[in-house]
Amino acid sequence: MLILSVESSCDETAVAVVENGRKILADEIFSQVALHEIYGGVVPEIAARSHLEVITYLADRALDKAGISRREIDAVACTYAPGLIGAVLVGVNFAKSAALALGVPLIPVHHIRGHIAANYLAFPELEPPFLCLAISGGNTMLVDVRDYTDMAVLGRTRDDAAGECFDKSARVLGLGYPGGKPIDELSKQGDDRAYDLPRPAVHGDNPYDMSFSGLKTAVVNIAHHAEQTGEALDKAGLAASLCRAVSESLVGRTMDAAKALGQTQIAVAGGVAANSRIRADFEAACAKAGKKLFVPPLRLCGDNAAMIGAQGYYELLAGHTAGSDLNAYATKAL
Ligand code: KG4
Repeated sequence: MLILSVESSCDETAVAVVENGRKILADEIFSQVALHEIYGGVVPEIAARSHLEVITYLADRALDKAGISRREIDAVACTYAPGLIGAVLVGVNFAKSAALALGVPLIPVHHIRGHIAANYLAFPELEPPFLCLAISGGNTMLVDVRDYTDMAVLGRTRDDAAGECFDKSARVLGLGYPGGKPIDELSKQGDDRAYDLPRPAVHGDNPYDMSFSGLKTAVVNIAHHAEQTGEALDKAGLAASLCRAVSESLVGRTMDAAKALGQTQIAVAGGVAANSRIRADFEAACAKAGKKLFVPPLRLCGDNAAMIGAQGYYELLAGHTAGSDLNAYATKAL
């Protein structure tokens, strides 16, 4: 089963060809970072326009690299939610047209389900059930993956996503956009106890809900205070302290949930899963608790279309297809 898959929910245009949900035959990505960086963040209009400009070219290139013709495609999958609405619409309309023209099924895929499925591409042995922490620029959630298409959100951020916290902190530290990677790199030269940052506490009865806006504000306040008083700012120490705070908040909750559910397999997904502190802390925690850990290679952590093709395969097996009235959604339950 060959699936042509499309991802356009934010600032990466991507088209892939995936075989049976597990094997990548082609995985083309065009990053728009250079278009947005002068604005310090993604500009939705520019993102949508750029997707439109490159998506057809990327699809042709993906087919070339996979060494297949259009007629060999069995289905077309696309991210239909959540994301920047104008951006998602470009991928949805491209996928609709391709499916209609080729006479094959159209498969809508939830972006976060796609991130989770990146683990199927990286780890052929991984099968549900498992627990997955999905951490990206726009979403942070702890998911009980009962089966390939049967998932329950155990907890989520009440405010900012973990990636947003990194990106906004990086902005005040003058590290550019997107900020997660430069913060990660700078943190390696710093003392993770240099600043006493708050551990986000969340009121209510769900122990797996998270919060990152207070942490982000604490970093912004430290940076502004230093600027106004002329005090030296230990940027590397602040970056290291931030990585430690975010990691402790995520890893602790995930391990608690795994214990409560009796879950032995833990997966991590999304752009923030590239963070070296988070990866190292998960490795240590899982080794200690005797849990099996799955974290995709960096290339599959960020947005890509191969993960949409992987999840699309299982959605198709479950009969989750759509007609040409498929819409795009800025937000949608998992
Ligand atoms: O999954 P992704 O590519 O896009 C979304 O679906 O949102 O995630 C992008 C996010 C950005 O916030 C970026 O700063 C963050 O992932 N990120 C990182 C690292 N690499 C990317 N955050 C922390 N450490 C990293 N090494």
